[in-house]
Amino acid sequence: MNIFRKSLQEYSIHHSESHSTAHDRISQLTEVTEILEDNFQFSKILCVETGASKSWVDGMVGYYFALLSYKTQGIFHSVDNNKNIEEEVFKAYNQLNPQLDINHTTNDSVDFLKNLQFIPNLVHLDSWNVNLKDPLPCALHGWREFEAIESKMPIGSVIIIDDNWFKGTWVEWNTWQNGQIIYTEKLNINYPVLGKGAHIYQYAISGESNWEVLSKPLVGRNIKIIIQKIS
Ligand SMILES: C[S@@+](CC[C@H](N)C(=O)[O-])C[C@H]1O[C@@H](n2cnc3c(N)ncnc32)[C@H](O)[C@@H]1O
Repeated sequence: MNIFRKSLQEYSIHHSESHSTAHDRISQLTEVTEILEDNFQFSKILCVETGASKSWVDGMVGYYFALLSYKTQGIFHSVDNNKNIEEEVFKAYNQLNPQLDINHTTNDSVDFLKNLQFIPNLVHLDSWNVNLKDPLPCALHGWREFEAIESKMPIGSVIIIDDNWFKGTWVEWNTWQNGQIIYTEKLNINYPVLGKGAHIYQYAISGESNWEVLSKPLVGRNIKIIIQKIS
């Protein structure tokens, strides 16, 4: 079994034991695994996650990437602008596997990526939360993250962008107040794509970038967009 399959297996065991409600994470990471095993060529995984993993409520997807870095004696570094979660981040990874060498920084992710002290070959963009009723801020933030790091990454590198919905999908959208859902409605995605990777995706398919899209624009659920640097 290769490191991608092994990491998915270890992630899946903990996902199931934690009774995580982030059900889509297994299918998403299965797609990521299939794409990485066919396309990722580096022997050492040097990875950044923006939007730190700290609990199974959000999916703890960083655990999968931290395992890949650990298994290849690489680097895993997460960044989050919320100072209050620092302790939770280290605790969450430590509980899963105390041998994982986790680096974590509190900062705005764009700032962090601009000044990164190593050159990553695998990046997971998952910071600014999507608001489908006001989708521009998170898409712009995702674009700025991409701009901050893409030119430094070597050919063959992969960027994965979380939380995207393609045209034809509908989403049950909750409005929250004081930790309570006060309103649920059905939102139809009528644009080509909305989410953290909306601008990055449009650029990658334009034919004018050094990146190609490896993931499929599936309709009906939350998609991780996966792109690879080709020149
Ligand atoms: C969806 S959660 C991350 C989930 C995590 N990747 C996982 O798989 O469990 C988004 C995180 O991004 C952080 N965030 C939001 N805006 C940010 C920014 N501008 N820079 C860095 N982190 C940011 C939030 O504090 C939050 O912790």
